[in-house]
Amino acid sequence: MKLGVFDSGIGGEAIARALRTTFPSAQIETVSDREHVPYGDKSPAEVRNLTETALQPLLVAGDCHVIILACNTATAVAIEYLRDKYPSQKFIGVEPMIKPAAAHTKSGVVAVCATPATLASQRYKQLVQTYGPTLEIIEPDCKEWAYLIENSLINRAHIDTIIENALQHEADVIVLGCTHYHWIKEMIEEIVAGRAAILEPSEAIGQRVKYLLRQIAE
Ligand code: DGL
Repeated sequence: MKLGVFDSGIGGEAIARALRTTFPSAQIETVSDREHVPYGDKSPAEVRNLTETALQPLLVAGDCHVIILACNTATAVAIEYLRDKYPSQKFIGVEPMIKPAAAHTKSGVVAVCATPATLASQRYKQLVQTYGPTLEIIEPDCKEWAYLIENSLINRAHIDTIIENALQHEADVIVLGCTHYHWIKEMIEEIVAGRAAILEPSEAIGQRVKYLLRQIAE
């Protein structure tokens, strides 16, 4: 079994790492677009074009059972386009976990950490409307995070201020809506110190892949 994993940068490696644990015998090929990362400050059309271009090696080879867009930003603006254009290819995307957050929160306040492009997308707005219409959603300013994480420049004090601010606003769930942030999950856990749940989709992606593979096998 072969899985393709795409992200603008190192977020894909975080997802691939989790997939390797769930599918130890799978062949997992990661593709990134280091030349253009970060995607989060680009327009939807740019992200769509860059994503399609970067995916070409996987699409042309056509040998991935599933391609995982391990990028919330690319999923938000490109997954429908890709599914339409490449109907024989199975794609899985990642999206901010609004539905699980709504089920989990007691305070009704959820912090969604994501890129500006994800937060501005119609797909994200739809997600919030469908699963979290009564939630108070805080969208902390994380626009520098992907760049800083990609370049190993992340600074704990910067993250600390942003997370503490969300906690002060009574957020009891923090959604990691960008796969780059998976690399600082432990840091965020330390800051949060049990005061909020931190949601990210690595495990859900594995489950979704299993489901799709069962479908293919039937
Ligand atoms: N890791 C990506 C995401 O999940 C993209 C970050 C970026 O390139 O700005 O959104």
